[in-house]
Amino acid sequence: MIKRILLALLAITLVAQFFQPDRSAPAIDPSKDMLAMTNAPADIQALVVGACYDCHSDRTEYPFWAYVTPINFIIQRHIDEGREELNYSRWDLFVGSEHAAKSGEELAEGEMPPANYARMHGHAQLSGAQKDQLIAWLNATMGEAGHGEAGHDESDEDDD
Ligand code: HEC
Repeated sequence: MIKRILLALLAITLVAQFFQPDRSAPAIDPSKDMLAMTNAPADIQALVVGACYDCHSDRTEYPFWAYVTPINFIIQRHIDEGREELNYSRWDLFVGSEHAAKSGEELAEGEMPPANYARMHGHAQLSGAQKDQLIAWLNATMGEAGHGEAGHDESDEDDD
């Protein structure tokens, strides 16, 4: 009996692997990328890409475990939510937005990158000095006191 239940569970787990979330992202237009549009220095680019781009850009790099059902769906939901609030690949849309202005603050408060994500990704673990450097740059570039107009309008967001 136990053996049958275990076999059934194994079969369900195997079949479940065929169910995968939609990972498609729009084609990248490099000229609309935040780091390009703000002329970010190379060291800042490396920090932002390493700590933020998996969820806040269309340039997500998926680790192998992101393909395992059911965590693939959980991971993809975080990415979709992250992109919806703030997508650095579409700086033409997000420049001057309320969410963008909070970038430095979220990092300073330890809200971003999410702790469970950072634990799993060495490239998202910033030293104290790197963190300070990135917070200062984000605040100067897109913080409340920074520049940027064209507020991002949530209503013209399409949910797909
Ligand atoms: C593992 C995915 C992930 C990573 C990596 C990540 N974020 Fe987020 N971020 C999210 C999600 C999901 C949300 C929306 C839900 C929320 O606010 O928690 C979000 C929301 C935000 C918001 C909007 C918060 C608000 O309330 O207005 C900002 C700003 C932000 N992230 C900045 C960053 C910055 C800066 C980095 C890199 C230092 C980063 N995030 C890295 C997933 C991520």
